[in-house]
Amino acid sequence: MTKALKGVRILDFTHVQSGPTCTQLLAWFGADVIKVERPGVGDITRGQLQDVPNADSLYFTMLNHNKRSITLDTKNPKGKEVLTELIKQCDVLVENFGPGVLDRMGFPWEKIHSINPKMIVASIKGFGPGPYEDCKVYENVAQCTGGAASTTGFRDGLPLVTGAQIGDSGTGLHLALGIVTALYQRTMTGQGQKVTAAMQDGVLNLSRVKLRDQQRLVHGPLKEYSQFGEGIPFGDAVPRAGNDSGGGQPGRILKCKGWETDPNAYIYFITQAPVWEKICDVIGEPGWKTHPDYAKPPARLSRLNEIFARIELWTMTKTKFEAMDILNKQDIPCGPILSMKELAEDQSLRATGTVVEVDHPTRGKYLSVGNPIKLSDSPTEVKRSPLLGEHTDEILRQVLGFSDHQVAEIHDSGALDPPRKQAAE
Ligand code: COA
Repeated sequence: MTKALKGVRILDFTHVQSGPTCTQLLAWFGADVIKVERPGVGDITRGQLQDVPNADSLYFTMLNHNKRSITLDTKNPKGKEVLTELIKQCDVLVENFGPGVLDRMGFPWEKIHSINPKMIVASIKGFGPGPYEDCKVYENVAQCTGGAASTTGFRDGLPLVTGAQIGDSGTGLHLALGIVTALYQRTMTGQGQKVTAAMQDGVLNLSRVKLRDQQRLVHGPLKEYSQFGEGIPFGDAVPRAGNDSGGGQPGRILKCKGWETDPNAYIYFITQAPVWEKICDVIGEPGWKTHPDYAKPPARLSRLNEIFARIELWTMTKTKFEAMDILNKQDIPCGPILSMKELAEDQSLRATGTVVEVDHPTRGKYLSVGNPIKLSDSPTEVKRSPLLGEHTDEILRQVLGFSDHQVAEIHDSGALDPPRKQAAE
């Protein structure tokens, strides 16, 4: 079967997490992704959080599947020549360098566009134009500046960052959508364009419901927040709401059987209005179906703590999976809190390719998250990440069409060697 992005060639200048997430997705959809790395060094994550000595880390391998790796010193004159040829042969350049790096390398947009007018140049930066545009940014900075941290956690505690990498992987996803959209527009215009995704913007986009609540706040208290039922006044900014549901259907994380010893023996329980009567029956409060304090959603809003405490008395008599079984049969929305261990062992996620086992020549077998986006006519096969510079000669010959003599010349130029400073270290 052919792949959706077959024939699309990506010049991948990404590193760490945000950019590599994007190019890995494009590779999974069938693009030929050529990762350009600094000779001798490579993507810094190859050596970060290493669990197996002298093997590429899981940090790197899990973000760089299905790519080819070429090492090239783009500050070396011959390296610049090779890069120019690569720009001619590729459809998209993707980068998440710090601000100004591509310009300092001697390849600003204008130059790239003049070398290859069809090339799409896609960039992730921490911030868009404005006071912070020159700042370097990592995941948690984006979570803090994009509105996620100020609205995550408990009202009386510190702002919290989430484990989900919404700044890095989230922005990578945004960029991937921008790239395929620009590729589509190019089919009509024949022209490349700049695609940019700022991490702050990406996080704010994912925190959209909180900007909704910020504006609702002007018109009165947010009645679905626990704070309302507790009689605590609201300030002028959206508060942290603990595990309150972000939507109009109140929800909470509740203890299940075994919670005293198992940190994940909990379930998320949503008191969706259309199934309220079923909830009353399940938890053994049939009187609540008609009682004026509980029967209708507006009456319940000031009593959510009491209501969830009562529901919890029921969930604590069941394991999270037993509770899930009973509630699902009644169409009551809920979800067990699954640990990473449980997810790693989940056979249905293995069956769909969302969790995959990959073999790697230096580190052996490991688990990864496969492509979460399934295309019926473009199935994803997850292939191991490349070793540093594994495909350098192959790319010089096959993609750029260089002869043995030219390849030897490039080797002699030092463009494929580690910069002198690093070599000395
Ligand atoms: N050959 C020669 N030099 C190379 C090279 C190559 N193949 N690839 C990279 N370099 C050089 C660059 O030219 C640059 O040098 P310069 O500063 O002298 O111009 C340097 O390596 C890389 O700079 P930078 O991207 O700023 O890396 P960093 O390690 O200092 O900062 C980040 C890392 C992530 C903070 C920064 O890249 C950033 O803010 N990126 C944008 C936001 C982002 O994606 N953040 C999330 C990352 S998960």
